[in-house]
Amino acid sequence: MKRFALFLLALCAGVSVLRADEGMWLPSEIYKNIKDMQAKGFKLTAEDIYSINNSSLKDAVVHFGGGCTGEIISSEGLLITNHHCGYGQIQSHSSVEHDYLTDGFWAMTRDQELPNPGLTVSFLEYMEDVTEQVLKGYKPTMTEEQRIALVDKNIKAIEKKAKGDVPYLKVQVKALYYGNVYYLYVFKVYSDVRLVGAPPSSIGKFGGDTDNWMWPRHTGDFSLFRVYAGKDNEPAEYSKDNVPYTPKRFFKINAKGIGEGDFTMVYGFPGRTNEYLFSDAVKYTAEKSNPHKIALRTLRLDIQNREMSKDQAVRIKYASKNASVSNAWKKWQGEAKGIIKMRAVENKEEFEAKFTEWSKGKPEYEGLVAKFHELYSAIEELSLVQDYQNEALNAVEIVSFAGRGQRGAEKFWKDYYMPIDKASFIALYNAYNKNIADKYKSPYFKEKLAEYGSIEKWADALFTEQPNLEMAAEIYKETNKYFRENYAPVLDSVNKEITLLYRTYMRGMMEYNKATRGTKVFYPDANSTLRVAYGHVKGYSPSDAVYYTPVSSLDGIIQKDNPEIYDYNIPQKLRDLHAAKDYGQWEVNGSVPVAFIATNHTTGGNSGSPVLDAEGNLIGVNFDRVWEGTMSDVVFDPEVCRNISLDIRFALFVIDRLAGANHLIEEMEIV
Ligand code: ARG
Ligand code: ASP
Repeated sequence: MKRFALFLLALCAGVSVLRADEGMWLPSEIYKNIKDMQAKGFKLTAEDIYSINNSSLKDAVVHFGGGCTGEIISSEGLLITNHHCGYGQIQSHSSVEHDYLTDGFWAMTRDQELPNPGLTVSFLEYMEDVTEQVLKGYKPTMTEEQRIALVDKNIKAIEKKAKGDVPYLKVQVKALYYGNVYYLYVFKVYSDVRLVGAPPSSIGKFGGDTDNWMWPRHTGDFSLFRVYAGKDNEPAEYSKDNVPYTPKRFFKINAKGIGEGDFTMVYGFPGRTNEYLFSDAVKYTAEKSNPHKIALRTLRLDIQNREMSKDQAVRIKYASKNASVSNAWKKWQGEAKGIIKMRAVENKEEFEAKFTEWSKGKPEYEGLVAKFHELYSAIEELSLVQDYQNEALNAVEIVSFAGRGQRGAEKFWKDYYMPIDKASFIALYNAYNKNIADKYKSPYFKEKLAEYGSIEKWADALFTEQPNLEMAAEIYKETNKYFRENYAPVLDSVNKEITLLYRTYMRGMMEYNKATRGTKVFYPDANSTLRVAYGHVKGYSPSDAVYYTPVSSLDGIIQKDNPEIYDYNIPQKLRDLHAAKDYGQWEVNGSVPVAFIATNHTTGGNSGSPVLDAEGNLIGVNFDRVWEGTMSDVVFDPEVCRNISLDIRFALFVIDRLAGANHLIEEMEIV
């Protein structure tokens, strides 16, 4: 196996030509990119980014909660992440008397900092290629079942050894390149993390879903926390006696700012990408799955928006649900458009044709493309049935709630409004009935429909004075059971085969690239592990005759400000500061910078990631991507793929001028 690992390494290593900005790189192997990075302006070394022996930039980056990134910005454990990453915590401390979502929150002393049970931040201690150990004992004659059993056993042993008996260590072995490579990750998990500050939502969520996934953007999307530790600086459960954590490393802040063309680097935990998908899968996403899921969510959003605009109480109940339904809905649209505009399917098909030609007579790769076609077409219809199960049948709130055992009942009822759910049931179940072929519908669904005569009449029975919980639970159980018993096994087994095929295809693509002296660069798909992306500040053209410059400012907030429109109604204090031009030291050209875009390759999970300059100092906090570039999870277009970052100076301005929390700025090291 050693030979194989080396072979793969040789295939991905040592490209010295200037690359496009695509790529999410492994920190421990960043030395392979360092020449390219330096050519693009980076001033530090690979050791500065990641080192096992010395403190390095990686020591200031944390996995925040389950799905975001955060970074340490003072010697006393101060942490910055996005407002939308701390949203749950800010909300849970809020009440009618202390509405921190609306008014913001600022701890003026350490004892005002608020604990958050359940919230953890994880520091990566080290990562290590363990491919050889994971595949130890593997013989090519083994069946896939035997391989899985062996790999599982080896992984458990590796993890056990790495964890030892240290309770606060989190260890995980993760597959890269579809199981061609395995890495061990060892984290220290801190569980006393306190809320320090958050701007009002009218700043932290400025622009709301209207501006979400878009540039120009003016969202002050940040919140502040502090990591606490036991007296020995090691992780400890929350206690009044805990002390602020002393980090191995924290980011210094570059308040001199950035401009077009400047080097930028994003260091964080991207969640999931699929850059090596076969054409059929990309086609399915762009032409089938996304359009159907978008249509289903449009139905829900129209209903929610209609009811929310009628009643302030309903608006509050559905604010968070509406945001999350709308977030993916908007992304899928940009993604499908981007895939089509880039001709990604056609380009992949062209590549696959060449690959087929090349693979002739190579037993490992021959027939791969045909096999992909066969497998994907075997599950195409079922995949849509699955999409409808999730996005239509299970998307009715009461159905999921009752069917899944009424978990979180208090919160559920607090935020529930039956007229929205009933209208959603009618719209979604009609769409399912119309768009899914009869042969895929459960006998239960067909019986109920026949019994009531129409979805509308069925809805009248399900939603009377109160929703009928028993009936809702039955709908959930029956339709999901039917799906689970009849379709899930086929989907699972074919998907397993597909995944296996990708393991070979991945190697094949690399080998092909080498054999044909191709210029494609390979990096492992994102899988919620720590990565480095780099690029530079750059505008883009979203459409014909339009060009967007890369930096937004406070003047843009004032231009959008409108007390009549919820998403654009800023705090009066911000208006006053603008009117008085009270910008303190954060002024640039008569305004304050707010956000900027750059060519770094990022995805969901990169929210909150530090955006660094050529010297490794903090210039911003990543929070989004531009709409025209959201296909970057599948295919990256350097022309339009841009990440959106909060300019750190806007955060400093808000902390200083708006909140008057100067003690926090004094903690930081500003260069
Ligand atoms: N689009 C950003 C990221 O996925 C931010 C989402 C939160 N903001 C919102 N308005 N829904 O995921
Ligand atoms: N907004 C995303 C996040 O929350 C980032 C992205 O998808 O670009 O992680």
